[in-house]
This record gives sequence, C-alpha cells and structure tokens, in this order.
Amino acid sequence: MAKSLKSIASSSLDAQLISTLNSREERNIRRKLPEPCTFTLGNTDLIDFNSNDYLSLASSPILRERFLKKLHAAPDILGSGGSRLLVNGKAHSALEARLAKFFGSPAAVLFNSGYDANVGFFSCIPQAGDVLVHDEYIHASVHDGIRASRVRNAAFPFEHNSIPSLRALLTKLLNERPDLRTGQSSLFVAVESLYSMDGTFSPLVEITETIEEFFPQRNGYLIVDEAHATGIFGPQGRGRVAELGLEDKVLARLHTFGKALAASGAIVLTSELIRNYMINYARSLIYTTSLNIASVIAADTSFDMLIDGTSQQHAKSVLAVSRYLVEQLRHRLRTVPIHLLALPAHIQQSTLISPIVPVMTTRPKPLSAYLRTLGMVALPISWPTVPKGKDRIRLCMHAGNTKAEVDRLVEGMLQWAEREKNAEVEEAKDGVIVVQSKL
Ligand SMILES: Cc1ncc(COP(=O)(O)O)c(C=O)c1O
Repeated sequence: MAKSLKSIASSSLDAQLISTLNSREERNIRRKLPEPCTFTLGNTDLIDFNSNDYLSLASSPILRERFLKKLHAAPDILGSGGSRLLVNGKAHSALEARLAKFFGSPAAVLFNSGYDANVGFFSCIPQAGDVLVHDEYIHASVHDGIRASRVRNAAFPFEHNSIPSLRALLTKLLNERPDLRTGQSSLFVAVESLYSMDGTFSPLVEITETIEEFFPQRNGYLIVDEAHATGIFGPQGRGRVAELGLEDKVLARLHTFGKALAASGAIVLTSELIRNYMINYARSLIYTTSLNIASVIAADTSFDMLIDGTSQQHAKSVLAVSRYLVEQLRHRLRTVPIHLLALPAHIQQSTLISPIVPVMTTRPKPLSAYLRTLGMVALPISWPTVPKGKDRIRLCMHAGNTKAEVDRLVEGMLQWAEREKNAEVEEAKDGVIVVQSKL
C-alpha cells in the first residue's frame, strides 16, 4: 500500500480529500497515473497491449509523413481562436463536411473529444418528459450527459446486450407512459457498438428491430457510440452501423479520433436539425475553444488513410493478431484455475473477434505488474471502472503486434498463474501446519 496521505492535511478540505483518497487506497481501488511512457510500438522496449491505438497509426511513418506535409502546406496550424461560435475555422468546417459525406450522414458536428460529444448530445437533445434507456455498460460520458439533461430522472439501464432485458424495460415503460405510446414523448436508446471493457458487440440489428416494433409511431431513437469500432469495422473503417447497413435507423452516431485514428476530437453524425439544435444548446460545444488547427489537420490526415484504403491492411492485421491471441488463450487457459485466469464466455464462444480481449482474474494488479517485469504493458481494470467481482486485465491488440509478442504474452500470463498456484499450495500447507500445531 502507498504511503498514507494523513501527514500533509492542513485544512478541513485537505482532511476530507485525504480521507476519501485513503479510503480508496485501503480498498485497493485508488487510481494512479501509470508510469510515463512513449506508448507507440517501436519507440519503446515495452510491448503495448494497453493503448487504444488499435491500428498502430500513431507509429505509422506514412501517416506521420503525410501529416507533416499537410502541416507545412496549411496556411494556419496554431490555435483555433476560440469556440466554433466565435471563430468557425475553415479547417473545422471542411472536416465536418468531409466526414458527413464519408459516413453518408445528412450532417455532422465536430467536438473536441468523444467525451464532450456525448455530454453535449445527451445533455440537450432529450426533451422534458422524454425517457432514455441505456446499456448498463454505457460509457461514463453518456452518464455525465444524462446527469446534465432533462431526463436525469427518467433514465434506465437494461442488462448488457440483452434483448430480453431491453424488451422488458420497454414494455414496462410503455405500460406506465401513455405519452410514449401515443408518440407525444420520445424514447432514446443509448448503446456502444463495441464495448471498451469487454470487447462485446452490441446486437444492433436486434435493437433496431425492437425499437421499430415497440415504437410504431417512430418516436423511439437509437444513438450508437462507435468509439472503439471506428477505423476497424465496416467498409473503409466506417464502423459497425455502416457494416450492418443501419445508417437510416440510427438518430446519431459518434466516431472518436483519439483511439484507432491516432488523433483527437470526435464527430457526431446526425440530422441537420439536431446539428442546429446542438449548435444552440450543447454547452460542451459552445463554451469551449475548438480543437487547434493542427489537431484538425491530424484527424483529416487519418481520414485520408481510411478513405484511400491505406488503413485497411492495418485493420486486417489487428483483427488477425487478435484472433491469434484468442485462439491461444482458448487453448492454453483450459487448465488454469479460473480465479487466476479465465476468458469470459463471449470470448470463449464468439466468432466475431475484436481487438479488446479481457482476461478475468481476481488479481489484476499483481498480474499486470508481473507482465511489466517481462516488458509488457497490460493494465489492470477493477471496480469502479467495471462492476464489482469482474476484475480483469484488458488486453488491447494493435496492428503492429506480432504473433511472437502474443506468444510471449500468453507465456507470461501462464508463468504468473503457475507461480500464484504454487504460492497458494504453499500457503495451504502452512495453514495445515498452523492448524495442526494449534491442536
Ligand atoms: C465508448 C467511449 N465513448 C466515448 C469516449 C470518449 O472519447 P474521447 O476519448 O475522445 O473523449 C470513450 C473514451 O474513453 C469511450 O470509450
């Protein structure tokens, strides 16, 4: 356990903050920044099984060269001058128009981050009297948007990816709320296409069918967060909604640039009306300085890679190496006690592979620390980021990861499990001796 913070308390505020942090420390859930590192593969001795740089574009010499070339050619690259409502940069406006076309959407709104986009959308679009339902694993940014919205007391979770649970919730809400039945009020369903902590895919087709069935007045709306699918799934990396041809059945889609696209910022794809509404009411768009121009150019250059097909090989590579990891784990973890290492059922069974592979363990921190000593970075994830009892290390795969690196990772995990098992046996023996000596 890290040193207690008590000694530096000098005011009542300090004392309260310290006490709360110490309580987290005692429960082993205090968050800390990891060691500073360069995360890109190739720039470090550490093997990255952690970052969201799924396509390894952050270390792509092609992307870097193209970006620098565009920067050199651009008339302005520094700053942005203020909020979009104060200075509507040409680069910002052009990227929005380009992405609306690329994703086949009537309109698009650029945000500084996916966090801001979710907060902006959910805080202002649902109106008083509307209802919102969301997958229980929905991202924190959606929760924060809901908290600031007019539906904060009318937001309900359904079980993760469960159509029966969604149906039961909708049935209950429709029974209780005649205004939803008549179409006077609206119901919003918020999901992610690929969940970041579990690597599970949302059953988007079934969800759209359910919404259509329950809301024949067309007052049920789906919003899909594609943060972790962007660049990897769908034609030209346009995401799962595009892959499944559901564009017309979704009210809004979110694509973020900070993960597979090695940039920053995000785009909400939606109708012209919603775009206009957000420009008027989305506070995380209005009251913030927009992305600096260099960041817009960076995102634009990453989209060049998607649009001209350069990134498609990266997408294939990351899915191939992810499949290899899953196959290895399915085979090699069979004999390991499940409290030490276990694959969740969907990773055991599914044929649909993603770059996110959680491995459940009751001891994520020691496992992560052990892997680090072997030169590999895979961060532990515990409550409150995931539900209690669902601790894990989350392995994130990248286009630049090799099969040899996967072998090293799997070997490392097995070695750790073996040591833990042996330590448990020793402890049990000591326990027996102690008990015997007491008798
Ligand atoms: C599902 C999901 N939505 C939204 C965000 C926020 O995106 P950004 O990192 O661009 O703020 C994240 C990233 O943490 C995410 O995982």
